[in-house]
Amino acid sequence: MKIAVLGTGGGGRAHAAKLLELGHKVFVGTRDPEATLTRTEPDMMGNPPYGQWLADHPGLTLLSFGEAAAAADELVINGIDGHNAVAALSDIADQLAGKTLVDYAVPFIYNPDVEHPWPTPWGVMPKLDPVDTDSLGEQIQRALPKTRVVKSFVTQEQSTVVDPKAIGGGDHTMFVAGDHADAKQAVTDLLKSYGWSDILDLGPLVCARGMEMYAHMHSAIGFGLGQQSGGHFGIKVVR
Ligand SMILES: NC(=O)c1ccc[n+]([C@@H]2O[C@H](COP(=O)([O-])OP(=O)(O)OC[C@H]3O[C@@H](n4cnc5c(N)ncnc54)[C@H](OP(=O)(O)O)[C@@H]3O)[C@@H](O)[C@H]2O)c1
Repeated sequence: MKIAVLGTGGGGRAHAAKLLELGHKVFVGTRDPEATLTRTEPDMMGNPPYGQWLADHPGLTLLSFGEAAAAADELVINGIDGHNAVAALSDIADQLAGKTLVDYAVPFIYNPDVEHPWPTPWGVMPKLDPVDTDSLGEQIQRALPKTRVVKSFVTQEQSTVVDPKAIGGGDHTMFVAGDHADAKQAVTDLLKSYGWSDILDLGPLVCARGMEMYAHMHSAIGFGLGQQSGGHFGIKVVR
């Protein structure tokens, strides 16, 4: 399949590399391909400059967000920073029309000015906006009425999403939510190709609220496990 991955961060890289390995033709979206390729500094998460990473992954095609979305047959993965995703995706609504968009972004606001900050090893915990009565997934669906939005992947590190068997032999749970059954099926099929066997359909896209709010719990579990987990752990719904 021709699949687009919008985003050059660590998560987007994990999906792009895995999809390439699975034999797909992968189009990666960025704001400005030339600017992205000329970066020489690691990104804010410490990932090496994209051009350097790309040299180790021949076969990937780097395009603008709109060109990458247009190149996909059906499936587009959103890995654009959550705070900027609605604006960036709205700009390419025409190229996304008729396609399935699987969104794993978290609507984090970094450096929030809060009365009782939650200190983390890397600063104050970002806050979520929207939260509780809305979600980024729903905002994206409202902005893109001709696109079928599915929220998934968001409850894990993306390196684990593309390689679930690296944790507990793969015996953990992945969630999907969305208002379009065919789109959820397409995402479920992709997850199975990544190696997932326990995929729980939470129902309509409103369930994206819970998945996004889980981000704080995911961080807390990571801090609780400490260095040894390296952010790599799974959650399982036992039933
Ligand atoms: N990494 C993970 O394992 C993981 C796990 C769960 C959830 N998430 C969430 O998923 C989202 C993506 O995470 P990530 O780590 O893959 O990447 P990221 O570093 O959070 O975001 C990188 C992407 O966001 C784009 N971007 C940044 N500012 C922008 C702006 N003002 N306008 C348009 N685009 C902008 C960048 O564009 P350029 O390419 O042009 O630089 C880049 O493609 C985040 O919300 C994150 O919290 C990540």
